[in-house]
Amino acid sequence: MAEYEFGNPEIVEEEVDILIIGGGMAACGCAVEIVQWADGTDLKIKLVDKAALSRSGAVAQGLSAINTYMGENDPADYVRYVRGDLMGIVREDLVYDVGRHVDSSVHLFEEWGLPIWKQPGDEGKKLVEGGKPVRSGRWQIMINGESYKWIVAEAAKKALGMENIQERVFIVKLVKDKNDPERVAGAVGFSVREHKVYVYKFKCCLLACGGAVNVFRPRSVGEGTGRAWYPVWNAGSTYAMALEVGAEATMMENRFVPARFKDGYGPVGAWFLLFKAKAMNAYGEDYQTKNAHTLEEHGYGRYANGPKMGTCLRNHLMMKEMREGRGPIFMDTPTAMAKLAETMTPKEIKHLEAEAWEDFLDMTIAQCGIWAGENIEPDKKMSELMPTEPYLLGSHAGCAGLWVSGPEDLPGVPDHYHWGYRAMTTVKGLFTAGDGVGASGHKFSSGAFTEGRIAAKAMVKFALDNKDWKPELAKSVDELVKEIYQPVMTFLEHKDYTTAIDVNPHYITPKMLQFRLQKIMDEYVGGVATWYQTNAKMMEIAEQKLQMLKEDSLKMRAKDLHELLRAWENYHRIIAAEAHLKHIKFREESRYPGYYYRTDFMDIDDDNWKCFVNSKYNAETGEWTFRKVPYVQLIKPADDEPEGIKHPGAKVA
Ligand code: FAD
Ligand code: ADX
Repeated sequence: MAEYEFGNPEIVEEEVDILIIGGGMAACGCAVEIVQWADGTDLKIKLVDKAALSRSGAVAQGLSAINTYMGENDPADYVRYVRGDLMGIVREDLVYDVGRHVDSSVHLFEEWGLPIWKQPGDEGKKLVEGGKPVRSGRWQIMINGESYKWIVAEAAKKALGMENIQERVFIVKLVKDKNDPERVAGAVGFSVREHKVYVYKFKCCLLACGGAVNVFRPRSVGEGTGRAWYPVWNAGSTYAMALEVGAEATMMENRFVPARFKDGYGPVGAWFLLFKAKAMNAYGEDYQTKNAHTLEEHGYGRYANGPKMGTCLRNHLMMKEMREGRGPIFMDTPTAMAKLAETMTPKEIKHLEAEAWEDFLDMTIAQCGIWAGENIEPDKKMSELMPTEPYLLGSHAGCAGLWVSGPEDLPGVPDHYHWGYRAMTTVKGLFTAGDGVGASGHKFSSGAFTEGRIAAKAMVKFALDNKDWKPELAKSVDELVKEIYQPVMTFLEHKDYTTAIDVNPHYITPKMLQFRLQKIMDEYVGGVATWYQTNAKMMEIAEQKLQMLKEDSLKMRAKDLHELLRAWENYHRIIAAEAHLKHIKFREESRYPGYYYRTDFMDIDDDNWKCFVNSKYNAETGEWTFRKVPYVQLIKPADDEPEGIKHPGAKVA
């Protein structure tokens, strides 16, 4: 490829009515649903994904469970579960809306060919025919899900048609409307395979690019570099692009620190819930029971109900054990398997062993590599557990994201929960779903897909209501292309200044910049280096360092398309990281012990902080503004819910 061509990408301009940005669970849900609502209209709909739809996003490797399926459960109980797990502050309207619609999504997956485990006697009987699933937990059902994403993507492709799907285009930024600064009118990105820049204009878009990975220094270093729990391809694009056009974010202080099988990041859910395995400290003690009384410190126990507690509190007890020197922590797989085997035939035991491996083969193949490489047979040898580095997301056991308009038909929903089209952010025409939606976690794959479907219906309505409106971009195409290809131009201009391509005073490689970001976040904003602890003083330093990093990010070089991708991913990570840091700084309490601690405010302080924290970013000035937003309880607490849940919420103006 001649350098001249590299610096002068071909420009592809396209106008559509609705653009779906991302190709994961939420985007596929949107694609499948939207064609039904758009049927009979002449709406032009396009989907653009940075990767190939069949294997993109968090479900790329497949999954072994669907973590949100109501079945016989009442969605109101699902709300109780989610708010308990997320320490009392969730948008109950959004959670309920997912709960009441999610099963129909799972039924579609089964119709498209996803094998869902059934209880003995119900094999071959579909869920819709009354087939009883094998539940690992109250909300989770087991699947043979290696090809889960492939199956869902195929349905999305069939619905939209491949001619309306653009793979391998990374969207870098949204563009505001020329005449209305509160509205989005376009998006711009580049092909990661060809020298092309894509400029889209639209009436509205779904921004569903997943959460943020590799913001913090990962535990995997050296030969393990690149291994992470959440998908490395999700680089905070959802949060960064929305924030840059002025969308309000909520609960960006929240994060998810999964406790995982060490080094391979293998999931624990099936082991805890299906195989009934126990975690123990180095001395064989059940630390969760032994330490439960320590939750009384700092008011954390207000959110636990005896042995029942949410994900972050379970982490908290594990971390305490490790900090105080009683690690490593082990998952006692041999005892669990021996117990299950007591009533099994040899054939059934073989099957059980296969299931134990398949749990990882279906979604975290690396863990099988660790088992094989370290001679671990799960029925004979225990495996270490470890809390990982933090991730920012809104669909798993976390609730970072954007503030979206909720359903209007639920009783008691306050006005500040809905202001317009369902799933729309505070920016006109900008919708989100899945990891993009804040304050409503525990949606998982099926819930993210469902939110995409919910958004689809609202976007069609929006596009039809705005039929005669013509989008006009606030920036010229030339300006946009210049901005996006700046890392390439920086490289071409300065590359001959030195003989070693990676050593140059005029630019920084994306890889080096990423290391710097991760070091800052790790050491000052509660990464693994400080056992997830931070304070205002540490964050002040992080703010200064991030500011300089942001300035230096304009000097990132791209020597090829791969680096151009890395450069812009990093840019998105920085904005997401900044949001996370500023939110933690604003919330003066430790709401999520086990996810992060503010050592200067170690308590949970319901009287002042049982509320949402919302922020806005001004991309021109670099300023952030914050506000506290009242939490409103819509679903009555059950008698056995803990004290914290019963607190009515902080009084904020
Ligand atoms: P994703 O599905 O991650 O999709 C994001 C999409 O955005 C991708 O297509 C990506 O290519 C695209 N994208 C990103 N940036 C850009 C950009 N700038 N431009 C264009 N496109 C972009 N859920 C369960 O129900 N059961 C489980 O057992 C389970 N286990 C899990 C295990 C692991 C290891 C992981 C990582 C997740 C697991 N989940 C599970 C959670 C589930 O996968 C997520 O909740 C869900 O995929 C989130 O959907 P999403 O659409 O928001 O994001
Ligand atoms: S996965 O998405 O990577 O499979 P994970 O294995 O942690 O996640 O959890 C799967 C499901 O089990 C989630 O719904 C999670 O909240 C739940 N879960 C995991 N561990 C426990 C536990 N010890 N107690 C209760 N629920 C759990």
